[in-house]
Amino acid sequence: MKSILVALPGNEILTEKLSTHLKAKIAEVTIRQFPDGETYVRILSDVRDKCVVLVATLHQPDEKLLPLYFLSQTAKSLGAKCTCLVAPYLAYMRQDKVFKPGEGVTSDYFGKLISGFADSLITVDPHLHRRSSLSEVYNIPSKVVHAANAISRWVKENVENPVLVGPDSESEQWVSEVATAAGAPFMVLEKTRHGDRDVEVSVPQVEEFKEHTPVLVDDIISTARTMIETVGHLKNAGMKAPVCIGVHAVFAGSAYQDLINAGAEVVTCNTIPHESNKIDLSSILAARVLATMNHV
Ligand code: R5P
Repeated sequence: MKSILVALPGNEILTEKLSTHLKAKIAEVTIRQFPDGETYVRILSDVRDKCVVLVATLHQPDEKLLPLYFLSQTAKSLGAKCTCLVAPYLAYMRQDKVFKPGEGVTSDYFGKLISGFADSLITVDPHLHRRSSLSEVYNIPSKVVHAANAISRWVKENVENPVLVGPDSESEQWVSEVATAAGAPFMVLEKTRHGDRDVEVSVPQVEEFKEHTPVLVDDIISTARTMIETVGHLKNAGMKAPVCIGVHAVFAGSAYQDLINAGAEVVTCNTIPHESNKIDLSSILAARVLATMNHV
């Protein structure tokens, strides 16, 4: 099916790249606020009989939901066959259980909301911890793009004698994959989170890796406390200055600067636009969009 891309604000660079890979047009749209703060959207391009690919990475998601919803509904009212949400970063996935009495499982509520207006979803390495697949959270067809190969390639080309380090057991899945593809050893640490910004990480014996460059890999860098804590331990253990690689550059507040100040080189994938984006995933995302379009 023919597709046309829509860039939600802040997603213009990735949308341009996708448009080049897919040889698909970018729709002309207006998205703005009315003086009273309500959202105005208008689609000026012809979307009839096409699949409208909404490109919207979902960090700081709350303000993005309504424009997305309005665009999806408007596209359908203008005759679009379907809408596909390309959200390289998917929010709320870490709220996957009731941690304290009185809380809700907001990842599920968020999943229901999105599934209520988009016909399909493509994302990059969603935080699947207590859930084994995205279909447990989203009831629309969804596809996951994995960043591991692109990260391995970057490590191979840019880091001499690396040892991959996963800051917690949740990271083992991608750290082991990245390490295997990069032909490097890896270790996984133990993390205990006491609060939003209070993280404790234990580092095992690192003697055998003293001549290696530690490469920390995690899916999300948010407050960066996990990375900073790990960097501190590795430094104390006498290891070389590490490279910290995150798939998703969430970086809350001063987290990015804090991590640099801790003595790390910071590299991320371009799932959230950020100055640390050095690993481009647009071609694998485009391939996924193409495969999805061929099935609708
Ligand atoms: C959690 O399990 C994730 O994989 C990351 O380790 C975590 O989200 C990082 O968060 P922060 O940067 O706030 O320590």
